[in-house]
Amino acid sequence: MCGIFAYLGPKNTASEMVIEGLKRLEYRGYDSWGIASKTEQGIEIHKEVGKIGEIKPTDLNLSSSNLAIGHSRWATHGGVNKRNAHPHFSENKEIVLVHNGIFENYLEIKNHLKKIGHNFVSETDTEVIAHLIEEYSKVHTFEESVHLATKEIEGRYAIVVISKEENKIIAARKGSPLIIGVGNDPNEYYIASDIPAFLPYTKKVIYLDDNQMVTLTNEELKFIDFEKEQEIEKRIIEIDWDIESAEKGAFPHFMIKEIMEQKDTLSRAINQEQDDIKKVAKEIEKAERIYLVGCGTAGKVCMVGEYLFAKIPKIKVNFAFGSELQNFKEFITKKTLLICVSQSGETADTLEAIEIAKEKGAKVVSIVNVESSTMARASDIVLPIKAGPEKAVASTKATTSQLAILTMLAHACNGGIQNGKQLLINTASQINDMLNPRYEEYIHNLAEEIKDVESMYIIGRGSNYPIALEAAIKLQEVSYIHAEGFAAGELKHGPIALISENTPVITLAPNDELRKEIISNATEIKARGGYIIGISPTNHEVFDFWIRVPDVGHSSPIVNIIPIQILAYQLAVLRKNNPDMPRNLAKSVTVK
Ligand code: AGP
Repeated sequence: MCGIFAYLGPKNTASEMVIEGLKRLEYRGYDSWGIASKTEQGIEIHKEVGKIGEIKPTDLNLSSSNLAIGHSRWATHGGVNKRNAHPHFSENKEIVLVHNGIFENYLEIKNHLKKIGHNFVSETDTEVIAHLIEEYSKVHTFEESVHLATKEIEGRYAIVVISKEENKIIAARKGSPLIIGVGNDPNEYYIASDIPAFLPYTKKVIYLDDNQMVTLTNEELKFIDFEKEQEIEKRIIEIDWDIESAEKGAFPHFMIKEIMEQKDTLSRAINQEQDDIKKVAKEIEKAERIYLVGCGTAGKVCMVGEYLFAKIPKIKVNFAFGSELQNFKEFITKKTLLICVSQSGETADTLEAIEIAKEKGAKVVSIVNVESSTMARASDIVLPIKAGPEKAVASTKATTSQLAILTMLAHACNGGIQNGKQLLINTASQINDMLNPRYEEYIHNLAEEIKDVESMYIIGRGSNYPIALEAAIKLQEVSYIHAEGFAAGELKHGPIALISENTPVITLAPNDELRKEIISNATEIKARGGYIIGISPTNHEVFDFWIRVPDVGHSSPIVNIIPIQILAYQLAVLRKNNPDMPRNLAKSVTVK
């Protein structure tokens, strides 16, 4: 969601570096941005509404500085305007702060501060933190004041604070990521909410964990655990990400780059530590009740998992969206297993589900892309999907890798991990053949044909019903066309009334035992004027447009979503939308 970037070091181009860093965080989604630089004259703040885009730091006439903090904001408290954009000053303009996450008890504290004379210029929860720190600083040092404030703030947050009087950055984290990049020059540091922001400068990182605070100065790097009130040591870790994987390269957008990367990512997902898969399979066998939990696209992957487990090892697993698990908490005990699926590992709703499970003593497994994420750290077992950085807001390669891991897990629970692996190796090689420019061109023709429709629908059965739902998310997110997915059998119970002349209906029709039924549903739609787009290994006369996919048995959800990802992308481009940064959306949803 919001992005944070800060620099402290020997270079006097801190402001420029912060602007460039924020540009590398653009993919997270934001609606305004701002930076604060410490200069010889004091603290300079610059805020804007809209995207950083092509702005060159030199256009902004910024003074030279070796300490600056920046933020890209996705509005939660208060509208999108300069006043609400970060950084925020304290009342006396001595303290400046950026903040990710939500400060839940801010109103209570704001009211108290108002009573003792504070005036607020924005509607944000963030500004209250700056004022709270100022209050403490009347009798405490800067560091102590931030520490005391962190203990008062309830919610999930990451804050980065500077003061007019001191050449230091203080940052604290509780539930929202912050990573320190250790620069190549002595005493040179970066802080960001996501590694790609400082990847061009360093691969040496220190992960800040929950309840930890760091003070960075030109002389030292000091960590404390602000709950336990003690100083702690942290390790520098060398990451193996390369800058190319986090950049677009020759592709016009991250979304298409990431769709095309599925030629490789699936194979990487399959090459899991087999022992870890077996370990999770054992936990599944032992558990009295299993919940698959995720949100949005990851939630649809979990729904596919429910079908795969019913079909392959014949095990009942329950699906719940992260935000809904609280309604079932009575059923969670220490014999429950929670399997969480997430790309970012930072989705607040899924993290809340983990908290509920942990409180009840349940075991947690996460299937996650960002291995350093809060979710991975909170889990008992992690199955990393190894898809590499996914920057487009619309999830593509992470989705198919998560599906692959669940497929393998379902086979492992049936004693046949090798069967699962073989099936997926075959699927990966067929995807490699499928993803070529001719295929893209073919789908482009369809996109041209339907780009002006008002609504479209997607139908599926069995494990492809959740894929119909996921297809709708993909189309909505980037094309902004009204799209809805249905269980094909449900159409006749209501939604078929929506079909009129030439309404496009994507029909997911793998060569399985449900094919006959879904073809007959497509025929019913066609009889009412619908335009049938068949995604299937074999053509059928009911299809007005046929998109061929390989015949891969239980892996059909994996191959069926890929042409829809391409279609959604092409519709977005034809309709002049930015597929990487859809309106109103953010890459990782760190608010409830
Ligand atoms: C995916 O296209 C969506 N942008 C969104 O639904 C996403 O899947 C959801 O917010 C969950 O994110 P996560 O995988 O990072 O937990």
